[in-house]
Amino acid sequence: MKKAWWKEAVVYQVYPRSFQDSNGDGVGDLPGVTARLPYLQQLGVDVIWLSPFYRSPGRDNGYDISDYRAIQPEFGALEDFDRLVAQAHALGIKIVIDLVVNHTSQEHPWFRESRKSRDNPYRDYYIWRDGVNGGPPNNWGSNFSGSAWKLDEATGQYYLHTFGDFQPDLNWENPAVRREVYDMMDWWCRRGVDGFRMDVISMISKTPEMPDGPRNPGSSYGSFAPYVVNGPRVHEFLREMNREVLSRYDLLTVGECSGLTVEQACRYASEEGTELTMAFQFEHMDLDGGESFKWSLRRMDLRELKETLSRWQYGLEGRAWNSLYWCNHDQPRIVSRLGDDSTPESRERSAKALALCLHMMQGTPYIYQGEELAMTNGDFRSLEDFRDVESLNAYRELTGSGRLEPEEMLSYLRYKSRDNARTPMQWDGSERAGFTQGTPWIGINPNCREINAAEQLARPDSVFHFYRRLIALRHAHEIIVYGSYQLLWPEDGQIFAYLRQWEGQRLLVVCNLSGQCAPAEIGPEFCGREPLIATYDDTAVGPGMTLRPWEAFAVLQEEAAQ
Ligand code: GLC
Ligand code: CA
Repeated sequence: MKKAWWKEAVVYQVYPRSFQDSNGDGVGDLPGVTARLPYLQQLGVDVIWLSPFYRSPGRDNGYDISDYRAIQPEFGALEDFDRLVAQAHALGIKIVIDLVVNHTSQEHPWFRESRKSRDNPYRDYYIWRDGVNGGPPNNWGSNFSGSAWKLDEATGQYYLHTFGDFQPDLNWENPAVRREVYDMMDWWCRRGVDGFRMDVISMISKTPEMPDGPRNPGSSYGSFAPYVVNGPRVHEFLREMNREVLSRYDLLTVGECSGLTVEQACRYASEEGTELTMAFQFEHMDLDGGESFKWSLRRMDLRELKETLSRWQYGLEGRAWNSLYWCNHDQPRIVSRLGDDSTPESRERSAKALALCLHMMQGTPYIYQGEELAMTNGDFRSLEDFRDVESLNAYRELTGSGRLEPEEMLSYLRYKSRDNARTPMQWDGSERAGFTQGTPWIGINPNCREINAAEQLARPDSVFHFYRRLIALRHAHEIIVYGSYQLLWPEDGQIFAYLRQWEGQRLLVVCNLSGQCAPAEIGPEFCGREPLIATYDDTAVGPGMTLRPWEAFAVLQEEAAQ
């Protein structure tokens, strides 16, 4: 296995809007991120991934970009970005930026031109089709509800939008579009960025014929996935991008790849390095979905979770590289989802157990802001408390069609809405959590009184310090980065346990991911050893152990030198 800095790194995702407001307008900004660099340095992360801060109407919080080379004024100016990069680099922290090139905002000058006339030079920058029988070109539904096509009166044709109708999809078949994207990427590389997180990059190549898709369950629309996800030319495009830009720098590149399979990942993120360095898969996040997409209160089944994550560990070994994550700006908080946030004790204990379980695996771990504090889902009372376009559209579609009762849908939003990840970072226990002096753009969780960075920094056994130690361990032990993986006790419904092996060392990881006691048989070579890390401070590793609720530990065994 080849060694690489990005395999040894831990990444921290910042959602600038919700991280730190520096000027009292209620919206987080780039100077706010810069001000908090010492906090991230103390945590010990190697890389910051910044969600979009580009010029944007902000209808999908910046994932709708109208100028790729400018900063949205509410986030600051280019000088603020340059200062952030310089100060991060001075602290040894790299900066990865979000690349959103499956689509632009409808306000992007390319699209403003494109929609003007059928023979505009920018027409082919986007995907236009004639309607069929007075309706859209095919039955595809968008990821944000409704049809994936929108009729544009000016020219009488429809444009494709796999997300919101304000996010027209770029036409990657057009070499001029690809050239624009590569030039823009190069521009950011020359500004000093250390990599890209590539938004829905698995969707950039569309099957040109665009036939109807199979009916989406619980929807009147069809799925575009067979013709869009991992489309016919996606690998060709990424190899081209790699030749034109990526290979000229030393970058971390992570593709957000919905619909990713192990086999596909071995192409996107192969060890040969012809495309990206790694990819995000979604299989483990999809395990608690329902009849209508993700809208459900269902809990993940631990055996399924173990099977899924282990399949990725085995499948990519020596062939590609895993990205490890529980949280991001699109997912509810893991402690409210897989853990137990009902009491302070279970909240901290379960957050630590989940962190340990993920961070001891092979791959590059990603921490989403606030995860290191065990921040919980938001405190959303009514529909007015939500901001996210996906949530609001889904509410309208599913309750409007009578498929779900408003109260039922609200309960799903409270549990699964992307806004759960987007409530402001809880820096301290004051009324506005140290996030802003003004009115925050989305409600702050009142539990900031108990759950906040200031309190946890001062308390050695906090979740913050647990994450800090997990990161330090990864930096200290190659086995955590490069060791092979083997799942133990696949049938156990409470414990997630596995073995890592590397150059004569063995690392045993045992995590009780339940609130009940769980018996475990520990091999003699590990018994009596002091754990590297554990969620209880008095864990004694012994043969017939009974793990307490959310008790988890990692224990290392080194073979005696020959
Ligand atoms: C990705 C982003 C998400 C965004 C969508 C459209 O899934 O993570 O936040 O809404 O793409 O850009
Ligand atoms: Ca601000």
